[in-house]
Amino acid sequence: MQARRVSGRKVRYAVVGGGWISQAAFMPGVDQTGNSEMTAIVTGDPAKADALARTYGLTAFGYDRYPEALASGLFDAVYLALPNGMHRDYAVPALEAGCHVLLEKPMAVSVAECEAINAAAKASGAKLMVAYRLHFEPGTLDAIARIRAGEIGEPRMFTATFGQAVAAGNHRAQQGYWAGPVPDMGTYPLNAVRNLFGEEPVEVSALGSRRPDSPFAFDGTVAVTLRFPSGRLAQFTVSYETDAVDAYRVTGTKGDLHLQPAFLFGMGLGGTLTRGGEKERLAYPSVDQFGGQTRYFSDCILHDRAPEPDGEEGLCDIRILEAVERALATGRTQTLAPMTRSRRPDPAQGMALPEVEPPPMVNAAQPGG
Ligand SMILES: NC(=O)c1ccc[n+]([C@@H]2O[C@H](COP(=O)([O-])OP(=O)(O)OC[C@H]3O[C@@H](n4cnc5c(N)ncnc54)[C@H](OP(=O)(O)O)[C@@H]3O)[C@@H](O)[C@H]2O)c1
Repeated sequence: MQARRVSGRKVRYAVVGGGWISQAAFMPGVDQTGNSEMTAIVTGDPAKADALARTYGLTAFGYDRYPEALASGLFDAVYLALPNGMHRDYAVPALEAGCHVLLEKPMAVSVAECEAINAAAKASGAKLMVAYRLHFEPGTLDAIARIRAGEIGEPRMFTATFGQAVAAGNHRAQQGYWAGPVPDMGTYPLNAVRNLFGEEPVEVSALGSRRPDSPFAFDGTVAVTLRFPSGRLAQFTVSYETDAVDAYRVTGTKGDLHLQPAFLFGMGLGGTLTRGGEKERLAYPSVDQFGGQTRYFSDCILHDRAPEPDGEEGLCDIRILEAVERALATGRTQTLAPMTRSRRPDPAQGMALPEVEPPPMVNAAQPGG
C-alpha cells in the first residue's frame, strides 16, 4: 500500500500502548506542536480506553482490532510505545498499511527485526523515525556541535553512567536481556557516543553483574567497552539497581565536556566544558523533548522529508546491542563489521517547545514503580 498523504492539515496520530512514556511524555505534548493531533489509541486496558479517550477525545481500539484501526482512515501515523519485543509486530503492519511510524527506542530486539521494519518502510514509502528525542534537544546538539568544532581538540575517550532502580513488576524486569538495562538505558550513551565521535564501533566487550538476590533473570548492572576505527575508546555502565544517575564525559587532546544530567527528560541538561584548566558552565533550557520530536516527525511527513533518526540509525544501535549480548554470553570481545552511517544529527534540528504538565496517569507507573 502507498504511504498516506497528508497535506494542508495536521498529522493525525494513534498512540499504540498507553504506558508510562505515552501518558507522561508523548500525549501531553502533541497539542502544542501546531502540526499534529491525536485521534486514536490502541490499548489492552479498558480503563485507559475509557479515560484517555475521554481526556484527549480519541477513538479507542483493542490490540485485536489493530488491523481494523489501521484500515479505519482515522489516523495518518502511529506513535508506537510498546515493550521492545513487540515493536516489530506492530511497526511492520502499520508501515505496510502506508501508515507513518514514530517508533520508540530501542528500535527492535534484533538486527533481523530492524531489517524487516526497514523493508516495510521502503516498500510503502511511509516515513519511519526512531524516537531518539535527544536528537532534537538543545544540549545534546550543542555538545555535538562543540565536538565537531574541535572545542576539546581531538576526542579520545567517552565514559558514561546511567542507572535507575527498576521495580520487579515493570515489563523491563520480565522480558530478558532485550528489556534489560543494556537495550533500555545503554541505547542512550551508545547513541550519544556514535554521534559525538561521528563513527561506528568495530569492537565490543562487556562484563555483567548478577547479584544472588536479584529479581532480574539477567545482569542488573553491565559495563560495556567499545573501540572505534579511529582508535577512540568508549565505556558506559548501566544499571537497574542503583539510585538515579545519568552523565557522560567526552575527553579530547585539548579539553573535556561533561554533561550531567545527560540523557533524561523533564529537566534541562547541563554540565561543564573544561579547557586548559578554564571551566565554562553549560546550561540548557528544560524543553518538551517529546513535543519537539513529534513536531519534527510531522514536518517530515507534511513536507516529504526523510527523518534523520531513521531505521538505519536504529539498526546501528541494535547491531551493537546484539554484540553486547554475545560478549556477555561468551565472555569474549566481539568484532563488528565496519559500517558508515549515512546521516548524523544536524545542530539546526533543535526544538524548544516548553515543558507541559501531564494529567494524572491511568494504570501506568515509572520504571521504579
Ligand atoms: N524515549 C524515552 O525517553 C523512553 C522512556 C521510557 C520508555 N521508552 C520506550 O517506550 C516503550 C514503552 O516503555 P514504557 O516505559 O512506557 O513501558 P510501560 O509503562 O510498561 O508501558 C508499556 C505499555 O505497553 C502495553 N502493553 C501491551 N502488551 C504488553 C505486555 N505484554 N507487557 C507490558 N505492556 C504491554 C501496555 O499498554 P496498554 O495497557 O495501553 O495496553 C503498557 O502499559 C519501550 O520501548 C521503552 O524503551 C522510551
